[in-house]
Amino acid sequence: MKETEIKDRIEKLRKEIARLREQYHVQNNPEVTDDIYDSLNRELSKLLKEFPKFVDLNAPENRVGGKPLDKFIKVKHKNRMLSLNDVFSVEELSDWETRIKKLLPQNQVFSYFCEVKFDGLAVSLIYENGIFVRGATRGDGFVGEDITQNLKTIHSIPLVLSKPFPKYIEVRGEALMSKETLKTLNKKNKKEDKTLFANTRNAAAGSLRQLDPKLAAARNLDFYAYDIAQISEEIVFNKHSEKHTYLKDFGFNVDSNQAVCKNLDEVVSFINKFQKIREKFSFGTDGIVISVDEEKLQDVLGVVGKAPRYMAAFKYPAERATTVVKDVLINVGRTGVLTPLAIFEPTSVAGSVVSKATLHNMDQIERLDLRIGDTVVIEKAGDVIPKVVEVLIRMRTGKEKKVKMPNKCPVCSQIVAKKNSAILPRSGLRHGQNFSLPQSSVAYYCINKKCPAKNERYLEHFVSVFDIYEMGPKILRRFKDEGLITDAADIFTLDKTDIATLERFGDKSAENIIKEIQEKKKISLSKFLWALGILHVGEETARDLAENFGTLDKLIDSARSDLAEIDSIENIGPAVSKSVISFFRDENNLKFIEKLQKNGVVIEKAKENTAKKNGKFRGLNFVLTGTLSTMSREIAKEKILALGGKVVGSVSKNTSYVIAGEDAGSKLKNAEKLGVKVLDEKEFLNMLN
Ligand code: IVH
Repeated sequence: MKETEIKDRIEKLRKEIARLREQYHVQNNPEVTDDIYDSLNRELSKLLKEFPKFVDLNAPENRVGGKPLDKFIKVKHKNRMLSLNDVFSVEELSDWETRIKKLLPQNQVFSYFCEVKFDGLAVSLIYENGIFVRGATRGDGFVGEDITQNLKTIHSIPLVLSKPFPKYIEVRGEALMSKETLKTLNKKNKKEDKTLFANTRNAAAGSLRQLDPKLAAARNLDFYAYDIAQISEEIVFNKHSEKHTYLKDFGFNVDSNQAVCKNLDEVVSFINKFQKIREKFSFGTDGIVISVDEEKLQDVLGVVGKAPRYMAAFKYPAERATTVVKDVLINVGRTGVLTPLAIFEPTSVAGSVVSKATLHNMDQIERLDLRIGDTVVIEKAGDVIPKVVEVLIRMRTGKEKKVKMPNKCPVCSQIVAKKNSAILPRSGLRHGQNFSLPQSSVAYYCINKKCPAKNERYLEHFVSVFDIYEMGPKILRRFKDEGLITDAADIFTLDKTDIATLERFGDKSAENIIKEIQEKKKISLSKFLWALGILHVGEETARDLAENFGTLDKLIDSARSDLAEIDSIENIGPAVSKSVISFFRDENNLKFIEKLQKNGVVIEKAKENTAKKNGKFRGLNFVLTGTLSTMSREIAKEKILALGGKVVGSVSKNTSYVIAGEDAGSKLKNAEKLGVKVLDEKEFLNMLN
């Protein structure tokens, strides 16, 4: 990017962040989630780090929190309310450790204190002679709003401290709304046609900013204490962890998820441990606060800017982030369908770097109104493949370019045909893809049967169904370019010397490839049918066909007879049937099948699936998510199939059960949303037996 463009981008980011910040802090009604806001902020600070000449001390990013509202009385904090510096990975956490260790005496022994980072509204509470006298919001860190009356309605804020209490204490903590309370509140608001709160933080803040304490009281808030900003001299402590004990003794809620850690490894394991229960935790959290536990060392480290150096906030990876679409490429799939692929400025989402995502088709692009150069929101929850969920229209500069489907295939330059695709392939759809595509979405096809891209994708599909792991896309392309293979059947006549003579292929790798090909020659009928790449015939349909016909010959005979009865098979509709019939009526395809067999492929007869008819899982659909401790997903799938059940990739109303292992992700959430029954591993094992 040119420097003027960088400057423009910084300005755009500042403006948008300021607008969102105002929505967040002042109106308590943000239109985006925290992830998006954080992501834009991250890009801004990265740019400012790279181009320090654009740093502006008066810019909004150098102010803490929001402006205090006019409606409450402003109070000057006796002790400034600081904020925290965020770290987004273990690596950044370790950099923080390196930095602080440099400032501490050499070989200084110290420990860390870890606690949950609550996502609510930070408040300061002052007690004189054990009596709650004033409570305030953070405001800009120096001046906040006096919300004492509202805070008094929170039951977990003691109005009088338990004895023995100090003469004076300023407690810091977070006013919170539980996830459960938010659910109930939003349900009620929906009924009454009122605005819904985006998250527990906004709901808590919104409730405390009601001028009428009765309204705040109705919101059922909670308070958790985590720090003492000031205390009269009669009480002394040496560690941050001791403050927690005192706070508890004075009568405050203090969260029990906390630990003193001897080193960073222990900190990381605390972070990982809490991550597992975070979803189920009653309150919204956005990370873990890590402090140097020794107060004396905290003083040595001090405060820089608006945050203490002795503390860091580890933020859990966001499932959503923003990035810029650098380009949209058009991929040609194995059936010739042209698929747009968005290329991003690489960005980290849910713990991995994302640099591209499929846009599926033109309808999707139009629905999103996505253009090249746009700033977009991408989502990658758990094991789900990344997708673009939204375009941030306000980040546009006017230079964005619309995406156009080419008239010619980008690979072979032959004409592209436009078709109304009436059906979606039943399998091959992965979770995270858009399931709500209109039935008649427009698809663009390269009609050239010999298009090299189609052939390449087909080869990739073929080896993956045959489980020939040694032959990845790069190797396949190389073999094709070198003339070793022209079609998939040629794979089975390759020999070691063919490969070993190629540059960069040693004897050993050649041997491995050949060995695997020989081992995988034998294949079940259902997999063979799937490998053929017949339009609309994915894994499941192939299995249905195989079970029904038993042998390839019987299927071919049926497809070629005048009375083709393929669509009378359960689960097979007219579009699939039409495609199967036309595939087997094409002599070229029969020749290809013959060539495969001649080259050594052995198709095993399909066993009749008696389980399908009699098995106890007959008619049941299962979705697997997370990790099972007693078996792999593959084995679990086999067991379900053996009992006549089906395993599908995503949760819908028709799912009978979701089997949730350890670290189950969004599928579990979807199941809960749709009211689908969820089984844990133990329940699943019981069901199997
Ligand atoms: S310690 C130096 N402990 O997170 C100020 N803060 O993003 C930090 N927060 O301003 C005080 N949970 O409002 C601390 N367990 C916790 C916290 C916590 C949430 C808030 C606090 C802070 C903000 C920074």
